[in-house]
Amino acid sequence: MEYFEIVGGKRLSGEVYINGAKNAAVAMLPAALAGNDVCVLENLPNIEDVHSLVDALRKIGAKCEFRDQHTLVIDSRDVTDHNAHYESVKKTRASYYLVGVLLGRFGKATVALPGGCNFGTRPIDQHIKGFEALGAEVKIEHGMIIAQAERLVGTNIYLDLVSVGATINIMLAAIYAEGTTIIENAAKEPHVVDTANFLNAMGAKIKGAGTDVMRIVGVKEMHGAEYMIIPDQIEAGTYLIAGAITGGEVTVRNIIPKHMDSISAKLQEMNCQIEVGDDFVTLNVPGKLTSANIKTMTYPGFPTDLQPQMTALLCVAEGTGIITETIWENRFQYISELKRMGCLITVEGRMAVVEGGTQLTGAEALATDLRAGAALVVAGLAAKGRTLVGNVRYIDRGYEDLVQKLTNLGAEIRRVEIEE
Ligand code: EPU
Repeated sequence: MEYFEIVGGKRLSGEVYINGAKNAAVAMLPAALAGNDVCVLENLPNIEDVHSLVDALRKIGAKCEFRDQHTLVIDSRDVTDHNAHYESVKKTRASYYLVGVLLGRFGKATVALPGGCNFGTRPIDQHIKGFEALGAEVKIEHGMIIAQAERLVGTNIYLDLVSVGATINIMLAAIYAEGTTIIENAAKEPHVVDTANFLNAMGAKIKGAGTDVMRIVGVKEMHGAEYMIIPDQIEAGTYLIAGAITGGEVTVRNIIPKHMDSISAKLQEMNCQIEVGDDFVTLNVPGKLTSANIKTMTYPGFPTDLQPQMTALLCVAEGTGIITETIWENRFQYISELKRMGCLITVEGRMAVVEGGTQLTGAEALATDLRAGAALVVAGLAAKGRTLVGNVRYIDRGYEDLVQKLTNLGAEIRRVEIEE
């Protein structure tokens, strides 16, 4: 199995360039199929989730060619297939966006249910509710989501909870619907806004992205577009937290600092100094880190995708910190792995109480999902001695060049293969 081997205790310093946002990219790849034309996506992160989706796009007839590592040309003129089988979608949950886009374009989509996930059930009832409200008939049979509609007609859809996936999927299905679709209680995440901007560049008429109410006026035709994906706020946050845990000084470059506000504010509360520039944030740690309480929320609140990394940081900060996870019912599974490194954490339902001020010690631990893996790496950077993080395939799904980027900042980390 492949591991990341980390020798902790090195102070990070320097600059790190942030790649395009994973969760925007995995929505925009399917979105590029909305028109019968050619799209160019720039600033695509070079990560496993992107490659899995590109494979899925190819399997349904899209021609995808990389101009360089981060630029993809997608020609969707030959897409006639509205079937995405399990083999091509099993690797990434975001393949469910194929349902919305194919249903919108062809009035028909048959897409395998995406695979499970390691932090609890991930229902898609709100996606389905949206498709049905637009006039589609949706069935789940033999592990496939089968959606079809004679015609889709715009309507008002009120989401029972704020869902990034449902907001984007309904938006994709509604592009060509007759009349106006209104999504109330929509997700406001930067990647929702970015996907709407991309679709608008292709000819869609979407307003209100980034607010609670989105309005989509159906169009008759879409065309190709060239579009640059926003930077990844979660990748940037992970490097800031990595800098903080080593008492270092780290600048994250090529970012939109506004997207980092909730993260920067929390790090400041923990006694980090934050300097904000046009496209960068610099963090340094002038004294002792102090603890804080964190509650994950939808944007612009503190993102759940940085919760595990923050837990690692709270372990070394002075005092007790309480983390409340409000988005996912079961996103604390990684804590038993983190505890191998000496953390003092008690979990009660959706709350974790972290006793800080701990000198972490290197250990062998397994990533249970992408952000769990990132948290173990962050903890390893501060731990005394050697840490081995296993299941790195999870980390590869969402972080481009993690080892190289951390090495450039002064960490001692490498990828190793260890026989079972
Ligand atoms: N939910 C439902 N029904 C639905 C949809 C969602 O009950 O139909 C619930 C979920 O179970 C969850 C909450 O609503 O409790 C929020 O789920 P959401 O739909 O917003 O999540 P998602 O779209 O499946 C995306 C990201 C996740 C990130 C969440 C929350 C992608 C591909 N994934 O998931 O990212 O945690 O939004 O911000 O965009 C990650 O990057 O590590 C990751 C897991």
